[in-house]
Amino acid sequence: MSTEAGQDLNGLQKKWLDAVAGTSSVDALEQVRVDALGKKGEISGLMKVLSTLAPDERKAFGARVNVLRDEVANAIDGKKATLADAALNAKLARETLDLTLPARPDYEGRIHPITQTIDEIIAIFGEMGFSVAEGPDIEDDFHNFTALNIPADHPARQMQDTFYLPAKPDGSQMVLRTHTSPVQIRTMLKGELPIRVICPGRTYRVDSDMTHSPMFHQVEGLVIDTHTNMGHLKGCLQDFVRAFFGIDNLPVRFRPSYFPFTEPSAEVDIGCDRSGGELKLGGDKDGNAKNWLEILGSGMVHPNVLKNCGIDPAKYQGFAFGMGIERIAMLKYGIPDLRTFYESDLRWLRHYGFVPLDIPTMVGGLTR
Ligand code: DAH
Repeated sequence: MSTEAGQDLNGLQKKWLDAVAGTSSVDALEQVRVDALGKKGEISGLMKVLSTLAPDERKAFGARVNVLRDEVANAIDGKKATLADAALNAKLARETLDLTLPARPDYEGRIHPITQTIDEIIAIFGEMGFSVAEGPDIEDDFHNFTALNIPADHPARQMQDTFYLPAKPDGSQMVLRTHTSPVQIRTMLKGELPIRVICPGRTYRVDSDMTHSPMFHQVEGLVIDTHTNMGHLKGCLQDFVRAFFGIDNLPVRFRPSYFPFTEPSAEVDIGCDRSGGELKLGGDKDGNAKNWLEILGSGMVHPNVLKNCGIDPAKYQGFAFGMGIERIAMLKYGIPDLRTFYESDLRWLRHYGFVPLDIPTMVGGLTR
């Protein structure tokens, strides 16, 4: 190879290595790569020189050009990695969080009244020693109806009340649970006694107007033990409604009723005053009620239900209850229309919602 061509190549190498070293951005580096090694780049162009050289010079020149190209390519790769590291470090520095900053004084989000009400119910019953049990929204006929002693011809099973899923190959149909009572059955079937659970959750019925929604929430309660009686039921539910509504002398009435899964059964009413076209919860100063408002269903668990779950009714008894969560939330928080619960209207949520970190507890207060 002539010394002249060799010096040219040394000069080129220095030129492009300096160019690579001098770049400070990924874009600038890419431009250098195109200008040097791209199809029309200066180093790529050297191959054309090959054909003008004498055959004995070609081999050495070609080898030297290859070395030059590799060195510049390596330098570009190295520089690329350095620039990427620098970009990452800059991003990390930009995104540091100052953990010593104080919490924001106000919260953007709000807890939905249904969630709040469920948390309040759990706080009250949790204090009484209940735990929370859950079950599936899609139930079979056995858990939703049969095991609960609901006869085959009971109106609740009819198409106009219950959402049925398409029939399975064996002809049976699953349902969207019409109440939380199937969770009682699932809990008893586990066979761990005694039982003291509440079961909040979604429930479904073919129904829709100002006070009914096809999807709504209930909470179920179940106590099973060897010496449980109606007095326990009354004391438990009286304590619950007084704690929930925050009225110490709230009048509470147990009115005989009928449910297939309890015997005897009672509906629970609380005292209120409807005079002046307004509903006010509570009694007069002596704790006497002017009017009554039904808020929940209850009773002693029917012996058939215990038997259906493999529990001996001669040894164990218990009580159960169920109530609509929307209904008691509407009463407690003065929410007039059930449908607004599901409209996802932010203005409504800001008005009726709760501050996230005000978690209801019996010691700290249910609502602040
Ligand atoms: N499952 C009933 C309903 O959906 C509510 C209910 C009433 C539940 C009495 C009970 C109970 O556990 O004892 O209307």
